[in-house]
Amino acid sequence: MAFQMSTLSARIRLITSGGPLSRSRGDFSNDSVGFSVKLRNIFSATQPKRQVHSLFRTGIAERVDNFSTATVLKSFKGQNYGRACREKSGTVYRIAIGAFGVTTAVACLHASAQVAMAEAHLNLDSVKSNWNKVKETLLSMGLEDRRKHYRSSFLALKDIPVWNQERGAAAVKPHFPRNEALDNKISLFSGDITKLEVDGIVNAANKTLLGGGGVDGAIHRTAGPLLKCECAELDGCDTGQAKITGGYGLPAKYVIHTVGPIVMGAVGEEERSRLRECYWNSLDCATSEGLRSVAFPCISTGVYGYPPEQAVDVALKTVREYLNDHDHSLDRVIFCVFLPSDYELYKNNLPYYFPGDVPVKSKL
Ligand code: APR
Repeated sequence: MAFQMSTLSARIRLITSGGPLSRSRGDFSNDSVGFSVKLRNIFSATQPKRQVHSLFRTGIAERVDNFSTATVLKSFKGQNYGRACREKSGTVYRIAIGAFGVTTAVACLHASAQVAMAEAHLNLDSVKSNWNKVKETLLSMGLEDRRKHYRSSFLALKDIPVWNQERGAAAVKPHFPRNEALDNKISLFSGDITKLEVDGIVNAANKTLLGGGGVDGAIHRTAGPLLKCECAELDGCDTGQAKITGGYGLPAKYVIHTVGPIVMGAVGEEERSRLRECYWNSLDCATSEGLRSVAFPCISTGVYGYPPEQAVDVALKTVREYLNDHDHSLDRVIFCVFLPSDYELYKNNLPYYFPGDVPVKSKL
């Protein structure tokens, strides 16, 4: 890169200092065309393609293409400068144009060097990387650039279907009235939550936030070691609370870590309240950071032993109540189930909380 910079600045010096690459005195309109053509040549025929960093070439070349000294001079001519004035101040124009060219070159060099450095330090597999810088860089990228850093295949949000109560589904007496504003905000997805390209996925974590098995393990594996580095700075998480981190190698931009209640024996009011807090606080965490799409696993229903057929009602009721009060803050909430039995549970219970336009009758 340093070699390229010196080569380039040497070439630019030649042009602006009247060296062999620059034209002799004469009409500026030709000179300006010559100036921009010469600069363009540096990046096309004469300059071996392999030596010019592609980022750099596009940066400068675009600048040269757009910057035409003829334009600059046309504006001077438009102000009726006399020929004598043009002749006398010809050197001034050349210096001004040269200075502009060099400034542009340096600015583009700096910009492309910044991007190159940013790309260079994006090592998602090493704990030696600065997790804060990596997180910022990933979050500042456009989608196509960010996709280059995913550590797994992904499913785009547009390819995750919205849930509609299947026509002719078992008619039930809903617990909530139909709310058309919510009709296209819910999805029921069966599969691996680490594949979902959404703003945030919720992790069923433990209090240390330092990873584990189940969905916690899958999320940390896909995100890479920097997720644990950030989690280690969060000082753990209490049951029912939620904390947010970057997504790193995940297709999801963020991970919302929450800790579900552990159920041994019967489910009591304490466990129900804690599980409700997990869903509510995770959504609060998401909307306070401006996330628009969130995916939940079936929190606490694996290792933590919460009976899935009881957890499903807490999950659906809490999300429905949250969306009643915050429907403008979210575009999509996805219930991501992993087990076929959970898919059936959610499919049969969704109509009670998100009734469609299917005629209903009592659950009994
Ligand atoms: N994608 C989506 N859901 C998944 C995935 C996955 N890749 N892997 C597992 N699940 C589902 C399980 O099938 C279960 O329905 O997530 C649900 C939650 O199960 P657990 O991951 O065991 O979470 P939980 O019951 O809340 O227990 C949390 O387990 O993994 C440890 O570190 C974690 O100590 C914590 C405890």
